[in-house]
Amino acid sequence: MHRSRVGVILIDHPQPRSASALAFWRAAVGGPPGSSDGATNGVYADLGWLNGVEFAFQHLGQGDPRLHLDLETDDVPAEVARLLRLGASVRTDHGEYAVLTDPDGVVFCVVPVQTGPARFRAGATTWSEAGADGADWWGWQRSWDAQQEVYLPDREQRFGALFDAVEAAVGTAPRVLDLAGGTGSISQRLLDRFPGASTVVLDADPALLRIAAHTVGRDDRVELVRADLRDRGWVNAAAGPFDAVLTATALHWLAEDRLAELYRELTGLVRPGGLFGNADHLPDSGLPGLTRRLGELAEHRREKAVRDGAAESWGDWWQRARDSAELADAVVERDVIFPGAWHDRGLPTHDRHLELLRSAGFAEAGLVWRGGADAAFAAIR
Ligand SMILES: C[S@@+](CC[C@H](N)C(=O)[O-])C[C@H]1O[C@@H](n2cnc3c(N)ncnc32)[C@H](O)[C@@H]1O
Repeated sequence: MHRSRVGVILIDHPQPRSASALAFWRAAVGGPPGSSDGATNGVYADLGWLNGVEFAFQHLGQGDPRLHLDLETDDVPAEVARLLRLGASVRTDHGEYAVLTDPDGVVFCVVPVQTGPARFRAGATTWSEAGADGADWWGWQRSWDAQQEVYLPDREQRFGALFDAVEAAVGTAPRVLDLAGGTGSISQRLLDRFPGASTVVLDADPALLRIAAHTVGRDDRVELVRADLRDRGWVNAAAGPFDAVLTATALHWLAEDRLAELYRELTGLVRPGGLFGNADHLPDSGLPGLTRRLGELAEHRREKAVRDGAAESWGDWWQRARDSAELADAVVERDVIFPGAWHDRGLPTHDRHLELLRSAGFAEAGLVWRGGADAAFAAIR
């Protein structure tokens, strides 16, 4: 398994005309403030950032002006091998990096991570070869994330807000319960950000846990536990204490009376001073009408994205899982555990959640993020 992303877009011009070409591009895009010619070791110059991708200029020794992409990766040989399988050719292999061409001759490079670990983490795609069972488990993980992002376009932002709260409350090496963690998306991101952390992914869904078992669950820092939050025995299965318990887009599946009990049960799992964080569909009690309309707006956008073929819907994703050799039996089992679709039965507001947490015994409870009809809150035990 390795990761890669488009890290740098470069405009290349041969010397000696490259100096005036650089001046042109600096003027055209506004150039980074404070730089003179911006040259780094006489070859490269910064032109700024495009949505987390570096925009740069390269002074070529010879050749024709061109644009080229740098694919940055945490494993250059594995990324080159993947691209060769897709039809690329190696033009020059420099060991640490390689110059390739696409099947029709366009030049691009495969390089080690250039843009810093945080940017790389945020944008990189994880690749794996099909396993002995022929299944592309990281492909399932990627498509799960893509499908969830249709429902929660700012999913990474809300995860980031929860991770900031974790770091501020309990530091950078926490033991975390990824509650109703599904395929382990939270755990994957948490471990990227906090290499000294460990997580328990707890969920009732055999299909999602099977994907987790072949992806994030292969990491020694991750334990997978199957338990149903509707059953009070889940607390023993989780095996606390934890520095933090995090959950996302899951607790709205529980009825409010069960939610109140669950919050009381959590006080026995989160250590004193530890944190509970939840990002979910959480109406704002001060804006009932607007929150509803914001929810409708988000739904229209989602439906359009699915209609336009830009995204896979929840239903389509599950149908694909149902039709696959590697997940079909687990989906049949899941259909028994979660019969029928979840219906909006009037979600508790974020205020109501905070009230329930305080009366369960949490010392502090408040919002750490809000967007549209959704929010993330944290509580300190
Ligand atoms: C929309 S998914 C979110 C998964 C994950 N937190 C994420 O953000 O990708 C909701 C998750 O809640 C889990 N879930 C719902 N009810 C549950 C229950 N009673 N016990 C355990 N897990 C449950 C589902 O199996 C599913 O994995």
